[in-house]
Amino acid sequence: MTVKIAPSILSADFARLGEEVRAVDAAGADYIHIDVMDGHFVPNLTFGPPVIRALRPHTKKTFDVHLMIVPAQPFLKDYADAGADIITVHAEADVHLDRSLQVIRSLGKKAGVSLNPATPVGILEHILDRLDLVLVMSVNPGFGGQGFIESQVDKIRRVRDMVGRRPIEIEVDGGVSPETAARCAEAGAGVLVAGSAVFRTPDYAGNIAAIRDAAR
Ligand code: DX5
Ligand code: ZN
Repeated sequence: MTVKIAPSILSADFARLGEEVRAVDAAGADYIHIDVMDGHFVPNLTFGPPVIRALRPHTKKTFDVHLMIVPAQPFLKDYADAGADIITVHAEADVHLDRSLQVIRSLGKKAGVSLNPATPVGILEHILDRLDLVLVMSVNPGFGGQGFIESQVDKIRRVRDMVGRRPIEIEVDGGVSPETAARCAEAGAGVLVAGSAVFRTPDYAGNIAAIRDAAR
């Protein structure tokens, strides 16, 4: 089974973001992974709906929007309107996670939940039927280029077991490279997010292919 690759534009050149999105699209990206940070849930700030809206005309690929913001619920419609296809919230972002997932689907978007490295898989148990995607963080969110946390491979496996035959994608984010991709895929991840491993050299196509091949 071939995995999907979702380049994270956190590692792109922000001064040329539209061009960078077109480049990873042409280089074989399956999804465009868009990291939204609020300087509160995570110790870093990126961008919000206006930037996503500006990027939307540059590609037809799925916009995989990873919200690292708290609260998330009041802003879900803004991200849907800006052009998100998948909207992922962190398990800790809202007091009422179940409602956030319902809101995302009511906006006609795919609903994801993200688990920090310390967040237990048990939180998924009663929301499985509201999910289209589970995002397992293999770093503490906030920055690109961090080291892969090995304990999350076992978490991916446990998420896969919980998901069973449901049509829920399992995505892994943080420290994914040709060195770590195989372990993630073997454990059950079907979508691999990669920031620095894609953007580290100008050969985006080669870098994406290297991750995909390693995961095969
Ligand atoms: C981290 C972000 C990631 C980040 C991954 O908070 O959610 O998507 O861009 O970067 P790498 O692949 O460099 O670890
Ligand atoms: Zn991310």
